[in-house]
Amino acid sequence: MKLLVCENIEEFSTVAANLIYNSIHHSKASVCLPTGSTPIPVYEKLVSMMQDDKAFAEVKFFNLDEYAGLEPTHHQSYAYFLNQHLYSHIPIRNEQLLLINGANDPQDECKRYDTLIDEISRFDVVVDGIGTNGHIAFNEPADHFIPRTHISEISATTLQANRRFFKENEIMPLQAITLGFEDIMKAKKVILLATGPSKKEVIRRFLSEKKITTQFPISLLNMHPDLTLIVDSEAYSESI
Ligand code: PGA
Repeated sequence: MKLLVCENIEEFSTVAANLIYNSIHHSKASVCLPTGSTPIPVYEKLVSMMQDDKAFAEVKFFNLDEYAGLEPTHHQSYAYFLNQHLYSHIPIRNEQLLLINGANDPQDECKRYDTLIDEISRFDVVVDGIGTNGHIAFNEPADHFIPRTHISEISATTLQANRRFFKENEIMPLQAITLGFEDIMKAKKVILLATGPSKKEVIRRFLSEKKITTQFPISLLNMHPDLTLIVDSEAYSESI
């Protein structure tokens, strides 16, 4: 694993955007991208790097996960988020966007997504944030994992963490459709992003515990041959 500790958000977003940009700067690349507050400054940088660049005209963009039951146009959907922060600002065609549709029948959507992933065989790069409970996409701590795209019950910790994105009376979906660990582990490269003091404990645990357990999903990434973890100084403790 490669660990990159950045001084501040400016350095963090530059380092992460450059790594993503270089990983997909070739035709036929495929990338799977996350939502959340962590990648927002990274997407800002990527927009400025990609907006006049035609090199991405064949790149396939997937999303890691999606709330079950939400239309892609719903303002809380992850498809909407990625459009708003990245896709609508860069010169790509709709056919390049292979996003999970939360409004489709969830079982059918999981199968459809696996078929789309099978067509590219594996991702060039999967980018992911990290939950405070160590979740990766919506693979929440559990006794076992489902390898491929599946319906996930969102944990109480994650519901609480994500509540901040929803309006006071807005109902939060309790289920999500998520990529499974099989396709994450098959990716040529995995880039993990974490910033801010709320991620300090999960990063400390990941870097210090050399145990792999489904109760701490991020720990499985210890087995990935090309993992880069990029953190800012607030998410990193010197005492590891
Ligand atoms: P965050 O979410 O970037 O909003 O902290 C990360 C995650 O839950 O995976």
